[in-house]
Amino acid sequence: MNSQINRRKFLDFLGKGAVGLAISSQVTGRLLNIPDVGEIVGIAPSNKDTVVLAKGLKSRVLVTWGDAISKHDKFGFNNDYIAFLPRPNNEGLLWVNHEYVDPLFVSNSRVLDDRTEATVINEQYNVGGSLIKVAQNKKGRWRLVVDDPVNKRITGTTKIPFNWHEPIAGADHAIGTLANCSGGVTPWGTILTCEENYDMFYGERNYKTGEVDNTKSLLGWNKFFDYPPEHYGWVVEVDPETGKAQKHVALGRCAHECATIAELDDGRLVVYMGDDAVNQCLYKFVGSEPASLSKGTLYVANVVMGKWIPIEWEASEVLQKKFSNQTEVLIQLRDAARFLGGSPLDRPEDIDIDPLNGNVLIALTNNTGTNNFYGSILQIEEEGGQHDALRFKPAIFLTGGEETGFACPDNLVFDAAGNLWFTSDMSNSFMLDGPYASFLNNGLFLVMRSGPQAGKVIQIASAPVGAEFTGPCFSDDWKTLFLSVQHPGENSQHLGKLTSHWPLGGETIPRPGVITISGLLLEEIQGI
Ligand code: FEO
Ligand code: CA
Ligand code: CA
Repeated sequence: MNSQINRRKFLDFLGKGAVGLAISSQVTGRLLNIPDVGEIVGIAPSNKDTVVLAKGLKSRVLVTWGDAISKHDKFGFNNDYIAFLPRPNNEGLLWVNHEYVDPLFVSNSRVLDDRTEATVINEQYNVGGSLIKVAQNKKGRWRLVVDDPVNKRITGTTKIPFNWHEPIAGADHAIGTLANCSGGVTPWGTILTCEENYDMFYGERNYKTGEVDNTKSLLGWNKFFDYPPEHYGWVVEVDPETGKAQKHVALGRCAHECATIAELDDGRLVVYMGDDAVNQCLYKFVGSEPASLSKGTLYVANVVMGKWIPIEWEASEVLQKKFSNQTEVLIQLRDAARFLGGSPLDRPEDIDIDPLNGNVLIALTNNTGTNNFYGSILQIEEEGGQHDALRFKPAIFLTGGEETGFACPDNLVFDAAGNLWFTSDMSNSFMLDGPYASFLNNGLFLVMRSGPQAGKVIQIASAPVGAEFTGPCFSDDWKTLFLSVQHPGENSQHLGKLTSHWPLGGETIPRPGVITISGLLLEEIQGI
């Protein structure tokens, strides 16, 4: 392949005239590489109980559930979001979310009547997040540094204060964080971890009756602990050095998938967030002071009109009729958003900002209620390219289906060349069946932005049986992709009939864990 032709094509794609080995993104200031790569050969869908990879890539298991990270702590269950924070001397810090537990593996039974206080306390320990030090050897391979002083756990019992001027359900702090799905990183190097399906732990308040409704508390923790549901469903900030955490009430309460930050020129932050449930909304918080996640305005998107609607009790007669103050509005965010005209979406999940043009991409996983089985990726172009704009232009960036070869997009990440990587999340209740039959196991996909396959979807990896890849995250040299293998074997009916034995094989129970993916292909794809 002629590199000059490739480069010109890429620059045409970017709408720029300069020539060089890399270009500086006007959006991020980041140098974007121009890969000189021929045809990338992906993989076919697979139903194997292993991580299947495109030729030229290799995976290694970094850490799995139950591994000791220090003398006192173990790695939690169902790892999801991963953030890599570089440290000197070829070291890094990984923050890893632990979203929920499968009692079949953590407590030996999914039967609600088998639950005891002790099993629930153990399960509370297995959610939240892990902070672990990782180090690179001379060959560039990353390993866990067991016992590093920075290694620590945040769990379902960690005391976490609310960053808000009023108590939340009568308290200034919550017991624990849970349902930690995806997240984000702040410009000052702290982690945002997002509480998603919190109602499966302690239920949800019925605001008409005032009672707690436990029909969705599938884990039954509410039988032993009556923590208020209002204490969960927030964006939680964690300082990786100290482990100190706080729940940011100003960002609202819903099934928070992620919190993706754009920094404005004056230092104020914009945080994009999806509420991952059928017919729920897309939000953004715009700070009114530099580096603040507590002072500012929360908006909900009306995607049909292309506008952001402020969610402010003081300025809205509609909200004043339904709620008594802004705290109540933020706690019952879904209802407030609907009253104001927020657009119901097909499960808004992960969000990332396109380094090529500053557009915001939002994975819309699916909506089986409206026969949208395959989902799509929504693109939002903010007016004037400004993330604090009040108007935007929506468009569909990519549609799932048999033609594009993927279904149910979830986590998104861009690489050093601005190529888009994303994972799929077909749920275990539907996988391998009906409209999903041909896709087989969940996977990792790549959309090249230049070269002969620009715009095409290429499957790069396939997950073990019952698993979902989550949390894709590049190391600072871009040569390693950290990836979570979440809930392998979740479709097992009982311990005597396991569908997966990943990663140890034999007759072992499956263990969620983090893998590293590296190899020449990863470097070629990015031109590094
Ligand atoms: Fe935890 Fe919306 O995925
Ligand atoms: Ca997710
Ligand atoms: Ca998901």
